[in-house]
Amino acid sequence: MLSSRGRIAGVMGWPVAHSRSPRLHGYWLRLHGIDGAYVPLPVRPEHFTAALRALPLLGFAGVNVTVPHKEAALGAVDRSDPTSRRIGAVNTIVVAADGTLEGRNSDGFGFLENLRAGAPDWSPTAGPAVLLGAGGAARAIAVALLDAGTPEIRLVNRTVGRAERLGADIGGPFRVFGWADRARALAEASLLVNTTTLGMSGQPALDLALDSLPRTALVNDIVYSPLETPLLATARARGHRVVDGLGMLLHQARPGFAAWFGVEPAVTQELRRFVLEG
Ligand code: ATR
Repeated sequence: MLSSRGRIAGVMGWPVAHSRSPRLHGYWLRLHGIDGAYVPLPVRPEHFTAALRALPLLGFAGVNVTVPHKEAALGAVDRSDPTSRRIGAVNTIVVAADGTLEGRNSDGFGFLENLRAGAPDWSPTAGPAVLLGAGGAARAIAVALLDAGTPEIRLVNRTVGRAERLGADIGGPFRVFGWADRARALAEASLLVNTTTLGMSGQPALDLALDSLPRTALVNDIVYSPLETPLLATARARGHRVVDGLGMLLHQARPGFAAWFGVEPAVTQELRRFVLEG
């Protein structure tokens, strides 16, 4: 349903053809009978700032920003919230009434909401968390866990310097481990999260022995293609609670949708099925 008064949002990325966000927001728009649209916006890196600046001129309510623009977006908006500045990236932009651009980051929110929904009795304060990887996703997750009271965050990355930089930039109870020490980092952990690309379709599997991970630990993979990664399958077989990565994508979309279209959307089983079918 779209009239000439419809509100328009979208996702800016390069490439953007693989993005599930148009399908996801399109589902909510239809469900709530909203006069609006959410469109894919393929924008080359060299055109990113100009495209962003055009949004108020075109009457957009805002956009999501995805790979490879999230870091550039932080520098290109007029205002950003403290969370996006700590992460060093913006994934949600709201066009204010005066035409200025406001940057936010809902990736950490989406991560935590996914764990809360998938494992309601797990608590981020319960013990150390182990993050595999030190890219943009790890940054957002580290900030979310720190703010939720996680007492220690162990950063395990192939490139140790990148993990050290992440810890120094954000500041907090971080411990850095090299890739060769990844199994050792699991002792007494209450959460294990894979933020690397390992285990994704077409990528090598994550090679990690879980023997020293306590059985009470929650295991999450932010990879959602496949939905059940080899890591999650192994963890499930050992008796761990596991949460897949699709929910992070779905939950991170909620704040943007609410800001642009004025309705708080819900993440449901039907939405999960709909997004997976696309
Ligand atoms: P994102 O921003 O989505 O988190 P990214 O910045 O490309 O993605 O980060 C990918 C992560 O996967 C990094 O931590 C990367 O390790 P490096 O920092 O050493 O590059 C990790 N990764 C990718 N391939 C890997 C592999 N074969 N072995 C170990 N780690 C790998």
